[in-house]
Amino acid sequence: MSATSTNGLRTNGLRPLVAGNWKMNGSRRALRELGMMSEGYDAGLRAAVDLLVCPPATLMQAASVIALGSRVAVGAQDCHAEEAGAFTGDISAAMLADLGATAVIVGHSERRAGHRETNAQVRAKCEAAWRAGLMAVVCIGETERERDAGKTLGVIGRQLSGSVPDGAGAANTVIAYEPVWAIGTGRTPSNEQIVEVHGAIRKALARRFKAEGRGMRILYGGSVKPSNADEILKLPEVNGALVGGASLKAVDFLGIAAAYR
Ligand code: PGA
Repeated sequence: MSATSTNGLRTNGLRPLVAGNWKMNGSRRALRELGMMSEGYDAGLRAAVDLLVCPPATLMQAASVIALGSRVAVGAQDCHAEEAGAFTGDISAAMLADLGATAVIVGHSERRAGHRETNAQVRAKCEAAWRAGLMAVVCIGETERERDAGKTLGVIGRQLSGSVPDGAGAANTVIAYEPVWAIGTGRTPSNEQIVEVHGAIRKALARRFKAEGRGMRILYGGSVKPSNADEILKLPEVNGALVGGASLKAVDFLGIAAAYR
């Protein structure tokens, strides 16, 4: 049985999800694009795919007001593992939920690299997200060096077991496979490479979480754009996309989601 809620995200795991990560981009002006995304998320698209947009935290409240009613979900890009306290500059999952976020990305490679986040920290953030009632989008992915050394599946397996807490369920957890070398570079893995990794992730999830693991969505991320979305999104065990650059413009983001029409 599927768990459902009004934001359209907590549905049966395998309904596709296209999620946008604006990263550190966007002033209030950029919210126009979110308005256009909301308008473009018509009945046809709503029937086919969930949409999630993750603006910077500064825009969260305004974004959730704009998206209200359109069923585009709004999420955050990171959260602190604690609920409150002496953590200058940090934002808790509960605070994000308070502003209208329904999801949060954790463990993005830019946080793992730029803020030295470990699997254990990502796991704690994921648990914090759940406690706040947010869906967690847990990112994993190998570097180019690891791929070249033939270590991809080992790296992915360790990140998956280390970053995803026990108790993960289809309703509250999404996995995003994002090869670090494909992020913002315009390069994408071959179809075979994507299928191999997504298949390995699915197997590991099913082994560990049984039916819940079979229902968890696995997104592909890294240089997804309207021109390659059709091809990537139809691959087996690819249940959607996590989109960076192409999520900043409504026409591109909706163009990617249109692969599910
Ligand atoms: P990109 O970023 O689509 O700009 O490659 C993807 C991501 O970092 O999630």
